[in-house]
Amino acid sequence: MNTTKALLSLMVLAFATQLASAQKGVNDLDPVTERKIDSIINLMTLKEKMGQMVQYNGSFDLTGAPSEIDGNTKLQKLRAGEVGSMLNVLTAAGTREAQENVMKYSRLKIPLIFGYDVIHGYKTMFPVPLGESASWDLEAIENGARIAAVETAASGVHWTFAPMVDVSRDARWGRIMEGGGEDPYLNSVIGVARIKGFQGTDLSDVFSIAACAKHFAGYGYGEGGRDYNTVNVGISELQNSILMPFKAAAEAGVATFMNSFNEIDGTPATASVYLQREVLKKDWDYKGFVVSDWGSIVEMINHGYAKDKMQAGELAVKGGSDMDMEGLVYEESLVPLVENGSIDEALLDDAVRRILRVKFNLGLFEDPYKYSDETREAQNVYTEAHLEASEDIARKSIVLLKNENNALPLKTSLKSIAVIGPLAADKDSPLGNWRAQAVPNSAVSVLEGIQNKLGAAVEINYAKGADLAIGERAFIQPLKLNQTDTTGFADAVAAAAKSEVVVMVLGEDAYQTGEARSYTDITLAGVQQELLDAVHAVNENIVLVLMNGRPLDLSKPNEQVPAILETWFLGSRAGNAIADVLFGDYNPSGKLPVSFPRNVGQEPLYYNRKNTGRPSSDLIFYSGYEDSSIEALFPFGFGLSYTTFEYSDISLGAETLNADGSLTASVSVTNTGDVAGKETVQLYIRDLFASKTRPIKELRDFKQIELEPGESKTVTFVITPKTLEFYSANNIWETEPGDFEVMIGTNSMDLKKAAFSYE
Ligand code: BGC
Repeated sequence: MNTTKALLSLMVLAFATQLASAQKGVNDLDPVTERKIDSIINLMTLKEKMGQMVQYNGSFDLTGAPSEIDGNTKLQKLRAGEVGSMLNVLTAAGTREAQENVMKYSRLKIPLIFGYDVIHGYKTMFPVPLGESASWDLEAIENGARIAAVETAASGVHWTFAPMVDVSRDARWGRIMEGGGEDPYLNSVIGVARIKGFQGTDLSDVFSIAACAKHFAGYGYGEGGRDYNTVNVGISELQNSILMPFKAAAEAGVATFMNSFNEIDGTPATASVYLQREVLKKDWDYKGFVVSDWGSIVEMINHGYAKDKMQAGELAVKGGSDMDMEGLVYEESLVPLVENGSIDEALLDDAVRRILRVKFNLGLFEDPYKYSDETREAQNVYTEAHLEASEDIARKSIVLLKNENNALPLKTSLKSIAVIGPLAADKDSPLGNWRAQAVPNSAVSVLEGIQNKLGAAVEINYAKGADLAIGERAFIQPLKLNQTDTTGFADAVAAAAKSEVVVMVLGEDAYQTGEARSYTDITLAGVQQELLDAVHAVNENIVLVLMNGRPLDLSKPNEQVPAILETWFLGSRAGNAIADVLFGDYNPSGKLPVSFPRNVGQEPLYYNRKNTGRPSSDLIFYSGYEDSSIEALFPFGFGLSYTTFEYSDISLGAETLNADGSLTASVSVTNTGDVAGKETVQLYIRDLFASKTRPIKELRDFKQIELEPGESKTVTFVITPKTLEFYSANNIWETEPGDFEVMIGTNSMDLKKAAFSYE
């Protein structure tokens, strides 16, 4: 072999190794590691095995019931090797201290794994997940998760309890804010992007952290949108809608899963053999571990499913829950359950093997302190580069819902502008809920963003108008809304009356969404609608800037104002991103990941519904409402731009798709406006007749394109049998022969259509 050839083959080899490592996940077993795990398990006592399956909360009680165990008892248990993991232990120094207790005193010195809820950033705050999902920008989302991982890892923590991939179709549910919205496919690709960002290509990298797909499963389907509530779904809906993103997460090599508080069809998910053993660990051949949700094992007593802790432990471990979060059950029950023959020790061995595998993958056996480095911590948390990245994704997440007569963008040549509303100068709410180590009141407010943008020549008339919440606001306490105090209205009306244009910043307090934040009223909370009415009476030239973590009922404001901008909770640099969009420095490109209803009575509301036997509103006896349309006010996938896009009809590469073939579907998209813009071109499929009824349309692909004014681009999608797959009456994922529709367009309601068949 000559030198050039030898060099080339080396390069090919290097590339192949790189590819192999890029695909390495918890499911790719390394024989050497597996042998090491075997030998550790051989050395372990029953109590030490139990210990690996116990996770304790750190120094404080974040959620759920207060800990029954005092700090000193916890410390003794750590030293005795009776704890395998901790959550909410933070900082390089704090994690080192906890780890030292295990490494110095325990017999086998198995390092702890530290977990924490890093949901949309560690200290640099990114948009809340629902908001970030509105960007449909997988690269930016992955980058956001990467940065969160860097800050988390630099702070000593190995593992985030994210992403939440619960398909959520009910705006009443407060945790809709934490996920990718109502669509299974969008949740899948966004979940995978987040997993890739957290875990990187190699879990043992000092800046990679283990991710956790949660909450397995059905948590987003609680009846009536009530948190923790009962879920009743059949297998078809469970597999096709709820489980699809979890399957994608498992295939992407997510290191861990978290189960969920809810029951499904009479069985708490925590004890579900079907979900955890049959689907996850058998059908999907998953090799990582499952952590329970906070106290979800002991809560099976409240469910009326276990009569005491002993039985709860038995049901959970048999069901496949490998680790007990805030482990009050496993620590008491596992050893006696094995000793009295109720459970086989092999179940513990399997759970411990999975937990040790993740610890090995993280490199903790090589260096248990590798994440606990104060210098790295000082250099990598809350940096200017991270804040700029958060501002970038914040801009991309903003959705323009309405823009009558081109009310937006605003001109910087304005003489005066009123900035009004309880959220206008709020530096805290943009940080969202589940905000990890965000510094309270550290976000750039909308008012500051506008001030930064405008010169001294423009008169800015700010008035709060009213408070949204009263008293102390915090994660761990219910929020009190201001329902009566309107004393600030007069100032707001005066500011509006003397200004050319009004920017009103309304919506939700950060703590109105998140865990246990379900609401039955999703109109503008408190006295905000009255404030809008009062301002509207003196100046109708209003741009409504919304800050919220769930779809709101915007029917009334939509009748009043010419322009609406959905900005979610955008994170650390929210105000700058919003000002960029308000004044046209960024052309909005976000699309809704969730339907916005006309009224709360439509919930749960989702575009990918079934047709029913009575779909047509031409009939009297049809499946609808007498007093409302069944369609959303702003549908899934919807979002305007400062330019306009025109779609051609669909051109299909063929009219038939074969089992080993593919088929192209193309449209030409033209920018028919005056400014450059970004469009998300969406592809939906309908399977017309199948062994299980299928939705009237389902998102299956999308592409983002940038177009200059007048420019056209052809967007081509490749449809393969996999695109059409679903969980069929045969209880497998397959594609059934038959007739299909393909739809392409700018949102789920505005679509071109073509037909093809699969043979
Ligand atoms: C939540 C989980 C979270 C856990 C730990 C629970 O209440 O449901 O999503 O990861 O607390 O904080």
